[in-house]
Amino acid sequence: MDMVTEPQPPRASLLHEFRTILQPLTLAEHFPTPQPLEVELGAGDGSFLVEWAQRNPGRNLLGVERLLGRIRKPDKRGRRAGLTNLNLVRIEIGYFLEYLLPPASTDALHVYFPDPWPKVKHARHRLINERFTALARRALKPGGVVHLRTDHLDYFAQMLAVFRADAAFAEVETPAELAAVTTDFEREFNGQGIPTNRSSWRLRND
Ligand SMILES: C[S@@+](CC[C@H](N)C(=O)[O-])C[C@H]1O[C@@H](n2cnc3c(N)ncnc32)[C@H](O)[C@@H]1O
Repeated sequence: MDMVTEPQPPRASLLHEFRTILQPLTLAEHFPTPQPLEVELGAGDGSFLVEWAQRNPGRNLLGVERLLGRIRKPDKRGRRAGLTNLNLVRIEIGYFLEYLLPPASTDALHVYFPDPWPKVKHARHRLINERFTALARRALKPGGVVHLRTDHLDYFAQMLAVFRADAAFAEVETPAELAAVTTDFEREFNGQGIPTNRSSWRLRND
């Protein structure tokens, strides 16, 4: 685990202002220091993201979330904490992965408690599906990792099936220091006695 960040002067906003969404992001515009990139997809209220950024000043953390009301919270908290390694983009995840995140740019993708779409007829809307592993392969550097968590057993089975079917990924242990940092939804579910199911998948080097 890296050292805790020293507080920095607050920035005006950590929420990225798009000049265009027709070209991939220029990561140097999001982070003052070039260093390993981790992305949380569906960051919600961003409590994981802010804490993970504070604990890992040697990594750049990018949060993706479509709801403005939610993404404003990590913006405010990250600014208060003076974080320079946190940035936020308000956009749809599929579009972000396909068109905006530069290929082979990312060391870790975090996907925590994605909407489960519990009705069978809606399951096609789930984020983690066969298309997702192709998008993750495109985004990750060789050796990069996808970290998944969900409360939903049927969705967890789908996550495992999808990643097991893609030979480019190998299952790996979730690092204990990562599992120790919980999300808003996770705390809520765990408080109701619903456990977290988690798995991590490493993109092979070859
Ligand atoms: C169930 S919440 C989990 C939030 C957070 N990861 C946590 O564990 O506390 C799922 C989040 O993903 C966001 N989301 C769902 N689908 C999305 C999409 N296609 N693009 C962007 N955000 C999305 C929702 O707005 C919501 O904030």
